[in-house]
Amino acid sequence: MVQRRKPIIAANWKMYKTPDEGKIFAEGFSLDAAIAQEVEVVICPPFTVIPAIGEVLKEKGIKWGAQNLYPAVEGAFTGEISPLMLKDLGCTYVIIGHSERRQIMGETDDFIRKKVIAAFTYDLLPIFCVGETLEQRKANQTEEVCSNQILQGLDGIKSEDIARMVIAYEPVWAIGTGVNASPEDAEKTIAFLRQLISEKWGKEAGEAVRIQYGGSVKPGNIKELMNCANIDGALVGGASLKVDSFYEIVRCAGEEAKKHGV
Ligand code: PGA
Repeated sequence: MVQRRKPIIAANWKMYKTPDEGKIFAEGFSLDAAIAQEVEVVICPPFTVIPAIGEVLKEKGIKWGAQNLYPAVEGAFTGEISPLMLKDLGCTYVIIGHSERRQIMGETDDFIRKKVIAAFTYDLLPIFCVGETLEQRKANQTEEVCSNQILQGLDGIKSEDIARMVIAYEPVWAIGTGVNASPEDAEKTIAFLRQLISEKWGKEAGEAVRIQYGGSVKPGNIKELMNCANIDGALVGGASLKVDSFYEIVRCAGEEAKKHGV
């Protein structure tokens, strides 16, 4: 029997919000019990905001995570943050391999793999991002690029860990542009990635791993994305910064999940 996958909607606040602004958001955002049952919600603020909002989110049954980590427990790594420090702040998740880090900070697949290992070692669940650029898409390389990112970035990870982590398929050309991948295209790539995971880590891991779509997700397109059998939620940037739009995305995702009985 196909395992039930609870959709996960994650907010990626990127480099936005001060602790006070984060607190105002957290105090103004609540999930009613019916939605919380259908969908898992995670907020990934900047590091400095985490201590200000953790307690507020905890009371509301909302999880939180970080946007990055350095793959060492401590040491002379100026400006970096360790998985243990994130765990200490109550983080459940950590975004790893976001295209902004791959492109702007030059992170390689090998470095990203070390981060994934470090996350699991300290009991953090990665939200592992993959996605092709516009040039790669035009050259029909979407599947090749995303499979390489998965095979290299997750090399050596145990099937049990693959099953409990989250993957986010985020086409680079769709991030922050207002142009989302069509649900058909997103579903096709995500189904392909699920198949790849089943082949490499076993059917059980392939069926259990949650794969989100990310890239210009907003209240107006979440419903059709969630309607796709393989899309298990979304990683949301811009539209997660305002309570109203993020709530609407979560509400619609919950409604769709309920309809499909996942
Ligand atoms: P966006 O960002 O929703 O603003 O396109 C998504 C992301 O970068 O994770």
